[in-house]
Amino acid sequence: MKTPPKTFAVKSFGCQMNVYDGERMAELMAGEGMAQVDAADADLVVLNTCHIREKATEKVFSDIGRMRKDRRGRGAQAPMIAIAGCVAQAEGEEIVRRAKVDVVVGPQAYHNLPRLIADAAAGTASVDTDMPVASKFGALPARRKVGPTAFLTVQEGCDKFCTYCVVPYTRGAEVSRPFAAIVDEAKALVDAGAREITLLGQNVNAWTDGTKGLHDLIRMLDRIPGLARIRYTTSHPNDMAQGLIDAHRDVESLMPFLHLPVQAGSDRVLKAMNRSHTRDSYLRLLDRIRAARPDIALSGDFIVGFPGETEAEFAETLSLVDAVGYAQAFSFKYSPRPGTPAADLGGQIPEEVMAERLQRLQTALGRDQHAFNQASVGRSCDILIERRGKLQGQWLGKSPWLQSVLLSGDHAIGDLVTVELTQAGPNSVIAVPKMAVAA
Ligand code: SAH
Ligand code: SF4
Ligand code: F3S
Repeated sequence: MKTPPKTFAVKSFGCQMNVYDGERMAELMAGEGMAQVDAADADLVVLNTCHIREKATEKVFSDIGRMRKDRRGRGAQAPMIAIAGCVAQAEGEEIVRRAKVDVVVGPQAYHNLPRLIADAAAGTASVDTDMPVASKFGALPARRKVGPTAFLTVQEGCDKFCTYCVVPYTRGAEVSRPFAAIVDEAKALVDAGAREITLLGQNVNAWTDGTKGLHDLIRMLDRIPGLARIRYTTSHPNDMAQGLIDAHRDVESLMPFLHLPVQAGSDRVLKAMNRSHTRDSYLRLLDRIRAARPDIALSGDFIVGFPGETEAEFAETLSLVDAVGYAQAFSFKYSPRPGTPAADLGGQIPEEVMAERLQRLQTALGRDQHAFNQASVGRSCDILIERRGKLQGQWLGKSPWLQSVLLSGDHAIGDLVTVELTQAGPNSVIAVPKMAVAA
């Protein structure tokens, strides 16, 4: 028997869907009367984990190790440890054996957290990695006060089975939440203070409800008073319907930014990855998107060193990057994941070759990001203020193209400030409020 926890902390790793889940878990526990505090003071720490690459998974076990050491010093005050997220789903009972944590809960089962915590306090091992047919969302409490930007998960799971990726196993099959439930949650978020909503899904552009597609949802959200900006992420090239492309032309609140991972530039590698698009089909798709919304900022994900990738094939990734001109991007060394088909392929690439390719790719992507920022100098746009900057009187916000923007003046978090972008750095842009320009 342990004393049931009165305070908690949630630490989320990995993608934005985990950030969203972390917020929902916090709301759930707050609804049970527990208070959210710093991890160092909490009776219960939830580690909301990521399994996407080996490093992410290793971090979980080193974090647990560190917490167990701290816990010895705290004696009776030792915090309970709950493992949530994708490592919980992938490893299940194994984590209880390996790391002696109190609760293990998967991404589709965290609405059961209060019961699992109570069971753990009563001394029963508490593991729930079910993927129930009935969605967890109905069992979650209403949204609390949020900041000016909010995440809203509309679609979960993945049916694509890229050969390197664990997500279809950790998150389960593609499931879309119902239209009405999403609209209700969006309205609640706006009532709670959100001015921008980012719709989330591992394949968010595959969202569907009956005959409706993501563009119908976006057009509906566009009508919510007070909601100034809509974004969505992550999209798969094969699910980029014409209706969604048209929405980028027509819907003013839909921001001109698209994260559309391509992973590699060689058709042989793309096929081995089971990406089901080609270099050429991806480039032609971007042409159609740019025709609809010429100023759209593009972002992508890349993997270097997929098994068997030759120098010439890697060079095709570099030439694709040159052809596209990304505004930002994420790039990773291939990490073999247990249970995925690519982990068993021959031709695994040595670490130093991957490191060298990653460096060349990141140099090219950094150059393009800087160039994008430079090309935006002189543009006028609105900045949504997200927080204070490091310096006195300085504010940080985002441009429509998702650039980090620094500005000064008399503003408040959540303000939309009309500015001119005046100076570009590699990772951020400086802006001057329009009124100040006129003065
Ligand atoms: N569903 C999204 C992204 C999922 S994971 C999509 O398909 O776009 C985010 C990114 O992690 C992927 O786009 C990919 O670039 C990277 N990734 C996934 N598995 C990986 C692995 N085994 N090794 C290295 N990077 C990986
Ligand atoms: Fe992973 Fe591919 Fe699904 Fe993205 S589309 S989550 S990379 S399997
Ligand atoms: Fe990681 Fe799971 Fe997201 S593996 S990237 S937290 S879906």
